[in-house]
Amino acid sequence: MIEQVGVVGCGLMGSGIVENVASRGLQVVAVKATGGDVSPAREKLARSLDRRVRKGKISEADRDAILGRVRYTTELSDLSDCDLVIESAVEAPEAKITLLQKIEQQLSPGAILASNTSSLPLESLASNLSRPAQFVALHFFNPVPVMKLVELSTVEATAPGVRESAKAFCERIGKVPVQVAPSPGYVVNRLLVPYLLHGIESLEAGIASAQAIDQAMTLGCGHPMGPLALSDLIGLDVVHAMAKTMDRELGDGRYKVPALLSRLVLAGQLGRKTQLGIYDYAGDSPVLNGEIKITAPGGTPEAAEA
Ligand code: CAA
Repeated sequence: MIEQVGVVGCGLMGSGIVENVASRGLQVVAVKATGGDVSPAREKLARSLDRRVRKGKISEADRDAILGRVRYTTELSDLSDCDLVIESAVEAPEAKITLLQKIEQQLSPGAILASNTSSLPLESLASNLSRPAQFVALHFFNPVPVMKLVELSTVEATAPGVRESAKAFCERIGKVPVQVAPSPGYVVNRLLVPYLLHGIESLEAGIASAQAIDQAMTLGCGHPMGPLALSDLIGLDVVHAMAKTMDRELGDGRYKVPALLSRLVLAGQLGRKTQLGIYDYAGDSPVLNGEIKITAPGGTPEAAEA
């Protein structure tokens, strides 16, 4: 039975996983993989929980209890008592393999190691581990506390009992796990990434304004948000990294990175997390990033609302 969970990586996904798991009553050890001060990560969780208190979703006592279940640290050795550790660090193959190996060294014999990788080939990660039988992928979606899905993937060596425990864990934290093959991108990103890239490429090609592209997909297809706003939510660096990996691994031309996406990532304009991406989030409502000069049909470069 999984009672104590480690989460390595305190970025957007890692923070969401920590919040989700602790909210469901499990103890969490949250490791800031890059070291340094952990207080911003704790404050981020507190702010997110405060928002839920203000909305009347949880009580102040619930918030305090959730916060009390999370221990922040920079030491991987603090993972030694965890039954499951979820790695949620950057999608860089070498860095991820090194990190997974370091985590593995800290784990107790029965502990499960999961990666939240969205696009790296799982078998090649597993081939660098000493206990691939205890290895799975648990791929969460952003915002983690809201999105119900977890893609559960295993490698050939994964023990059946490990897969079952991982599945039970997902259900315990309120998620719906779907079993997917260990192919880069699994189901969601295999379908979603080409769509996001085409959204950005459509903006670049002047097919429509940013607002019109997003509205077309929200109003025309019933999506909760359009591809440009969603790319900003996921993080343009994450979209870029996924596209590059899937282009390399799957090599079928659907994952070609538009120049506009590369430019924004190079400029450090990564979406909501930097307050500037395809949209600019500095004001009351998002407007098109002023540096994106595109003439859409029916107008000059527009100020778009996301
Ligand atoms: N953390 C916690 N809760 C959050 C949240 C966050 N970051 N963002 C929104 N919420 C909650 C709100 O509190 C609200 O909860 P209640 O209904 O209980 O009050 C609920 O979500 C709805 O939020 P809002 O009313 O503020 O806004 P909304 O109705 O416009 O929904 C959204 C926001 C949930 C983000 C919605 O627009 C949506 O579902 N967008 C699509 C997201 C998506 O496709 N995610 C997948 C990305 S792909 C990925 O993540 C994989 C990868 O590998 C990169």
